[in-house]
Amino acid sequence: MKRRKFLLGTGAAVIGLGAGRGRAAGRPNRLVMPPLLDTTMNSAFELSAQAGQTNFLRQSNSDTWGFNQPFLGPTIRMRSTGEVQAVITNRLREEISVHWHGLVIPGSVDGGPHQPVSAGDTWRPVLPINQPSCTAWYHSHQHRQTAAQVQQGLAGVLQLDDGRDGERGLPVRYGVDDLTLVLQDRRFDQNGRMRYRPSMHDNMVGFIGDHMLVNGQIGRTAAVPAGIVRLRLLNGCNARILNLAMSDGRPMHQIATDSGLLPTPQARTTLPLSPGERAEVLVDFSDGNETALVSENVENTPMMGGGLTGGQPPLNGFEVLRFAVDVTQEVGVTMLPDDLGGEFAGIDEQPAVHRQVSLDMTMGMMRMFGGDRFSINNQAFEMDHMNYEVKLGAVEEWTVTGAMMMHPFHVHGTIFQVVSENGGPPQPHNRGWKDTALIDGEAVIRMRFEREAPPDRPFMFHCHILEHEDGGMMGQFTVS
Ligand code: C2O
Ligand code: CU
Ligand code: CU
Repeated sequence: MKRRKFLLGTGAAVIGLGAGRGRAAGRPNRLVMPPLLDTTMNSAFELSAQAGQTNFLRQSNSDTWGFNQPFLGPTIRMRSTGEVQAVITNRLREEISVHWHGLVIPGSVDGGPHQPVSAGDTWRPVLPINQPSCTAWYHSHQHRQTAAQVQQGLAGVLQLDDGRDGERGLPVRYGVDDLTLVLQDRRFDQNGRMRYRPSMHDNMVGFIGDHMLVNGQIGRTAAVPAGIVRLRLLNGCNARILNLAMSDGRPMHQIATDSGLLPTPQARTTLPLSPGERAEVLVDFSDGNETALVSENVENTPMMGGGLTGGQPPLNGFEVLRFAVDVTQEVGVTMLPDDLGGEFAGIDEQPAVHRQVSLDMTMGMMRMFGGDRFSINNQAFEMDHMNYEVKLGAVEEWTVTGAMMMHPFHVHGTIFQVVSENGGPPQPHNRGWKDTALIDGEAVIRMRFEREAPPDRPFMFHCHILEHEDGGMMGQFTVS
């Protein structure tokens, strides 16, 4: 395959070209999965937040944080129903929090900014799980420190598993034909050290990196069997919106959105994925050809406007991950399943409450008149200001508008359906259960609130560009 050069981010750095050169001692530069922490038998797990050192680039080590390892955390597999005992120990020297993004659980164990874990402390929440199987994630949600702590490595993947994926005809071999791919961008200095020093501009538009990491690794190749492989994709970037495609234009068959399986696989040539969102796709590697996952370089700034251009691959963008077929690996799945049994019925019920949620940002002159840089309905997040009180069991419809840029909008404690976008039907990738959706203009979302959240442990709703969230583009609500 010809090596194509892809430009990442600000257009300065060329990436993804290191795979051939990075061979250590004759061994291919293979992508490694996060370790799997399987709780389906014992319903318990432990995470220890710790500091460490990670070599990403050249010979330099970077100071990083992780759970049970130097950078990022294990993939935690849990049953999709039942209680799980979590034990989180903070071995760092500052306060953190650990939020279960995508778990529909009560506010009392949601791990938001009202539930910090102090340095040296241990937090023992019991997570009552009862929802369709899906790929979710966990990450720091520390007040005003979320962006920095997630950059540093406090994030990992959750798999909710109902044990029926084999019957559905889906690949189930972790790291063989069921790959967990945490997609993140980071910035490095000339010595190859990871650096998070956001400028004023970075804080305005969100921090964009110059290298793409997959599971904390740069320029690797995933070895896959010559069959159908499942990719569980997480956009774990602070701010970068991805628009994914295969470099040779082969389809990705989407089988799941954030919060569960679709009824049937949906072929896509491009797949937008904004920060916080997950998607699961099946890709057919049976032709044995080398290929790559690539992304469009999506502009998202108040000056440029931005927007997804999509179009036919190869996109004007950069390489995310290369794939090479390893014929020694046994092929598990050879056919696309035609029925996933995913339940996307949507909510028919008429909403009891409508709300307008405007994701606001102010710049230049307006700020001189005292406007907050980031807010929701002109109210910047405050720990002791409750934005909404939601009735337990109620169906609500929120009209969410985003100012000046595209904003990935996330709601805790529920899953939603996108009812419409800019007055039309939702885009294909926004059909299915979601907990995060990219707002490009206006979207109407509908959801039912079935988990309680008391005033001292409310649920958050916010922009998932983490610099916007930390800057005040967040609100909170009780459910009772
Ligand atoms: Cu993924 Cu409130 O966060
Ligand atoms: Cu969340
Ligand atoms: Cu935003």
